[in-house]
Amino acid sequence: MQGRLTDLGASPNLCGMKTLTPGFALVTGASSGIGAALARALPPDRPLLLTALDQEGLLAMQAELARDGRPVQILAADLASDAGRQAVIDWAAARPLALLVNNAGICAWGRLAETDPARLAALVRLNCLAPLLLTRALLPALLAEARQQGGRAGLVFVASIVAWLPLPYVATYCASKAFDRFLGEALSQELRGEPIDVLTVCPPVTRSGLADAAGIPREGPGPRPGADPAAIAAATLAALGRRTLLLPGRAARRAVWGQALVPRVLLRPLLRRRMRRTAAAG
Ligand SMILES: NC(=O)c1ccc[n+]([C@@H]2O[C@H](COP(=O)([O-])OP(=O)(O)OC[C@H]3O[C@@H](n4cnc5c(N)ncnc54)[C@H](OP(=O)(O)O)[C@@H]3O)[C@@H](O)[C@H]2O)c1
Repeated sequence: MQGRLTDLGASPNLCGMKTLTPGFALVTGASSGIGAALARALPPDRPLLLTALDQEGLLAMQAELARDGRPVQILAADLASDAGRQAVIDWAAARPLALLVNNAGICAWGRLAETDPARLAALVRLNCLAPLLLTRALLPALLAEARQQGGRAGLVFVASIVAWLPLPYVATYCASKAFDRFLGEALSQELRGEPIDVLTVCPPVTRSGLADAAGIPREGPGPRPGADPAAIAAATLAALGRRTLLLPGRAARRAVWGQALVPRVLLRPLLRRRMRRTAAAG
């Protein structure tokens, strides 16, 4: 079955966690899906800063994870807005920070000319501007804390396999994930020699509310297929400090290696035909 832990090559030994400096782990989009799974997968003694759009999901995560005196602080904020982003930055900067996980994201489905421009702008602000500006604002503090503690900080970008696949009908989403992948991969090299591990993770289709929220048509009855967010999270934490780029699972590796073998001139119409099938299901 796609998405099992063994398939994803994750070991329960959380590699990067061993050297991670004490301090908070900030996870964006921590109320559901991959972000919630990442928050759950972090070691139970790691203090957490969890942020998302709505308070309700965050309160549930806090109730679940704040056990045995573990600090779990939450902040509901719109990372697609300047004010929301600044609120998260100010909140996190006031605490010792060990790990930043840039995970929050949305998708938008449909022909570009027919898609609400406000949704497209919010997508770019959330998927691209938020990870960029959160990282820019918090990186100096992450590095300073790691140096002071004699450990290492962590920086994670949740991109996607679509960072390699310019899919019609989700063009803006794919472009935003390519931005995240390039940012993460470039920073992993720019920051070599610094006490920080940078990881870009590119999950395949994963079970979460993302596709339904975007209005992507279902191609069959029953639940949408996809990898297990818990397995993606376990693989991500196991890869931190070991790799700079993670394609978690066979589906992700097949998609990314496969597209590299096909000339772009052939790949583009293949992707169009594939996405027309999805569109026809709507
Ligand atoms: N699902 C997939 O197939 C898949 C595959 C590859 C990569 N990814 C990436 O994984 C990441 C997480 O997605 P997911 O699949 O776990 O989706 P999800 O379950 O819908 O989670 C999205 C998270 O982002 C938060 N969020 C949405 N809009 C926000 C805003 N304006 N400000 C702050 N937070 C906001 C949501 O908070 P609320 O719940 O409060 O709205 C939620 O916590 C995204 O970056 C996505 O691109 C997903």
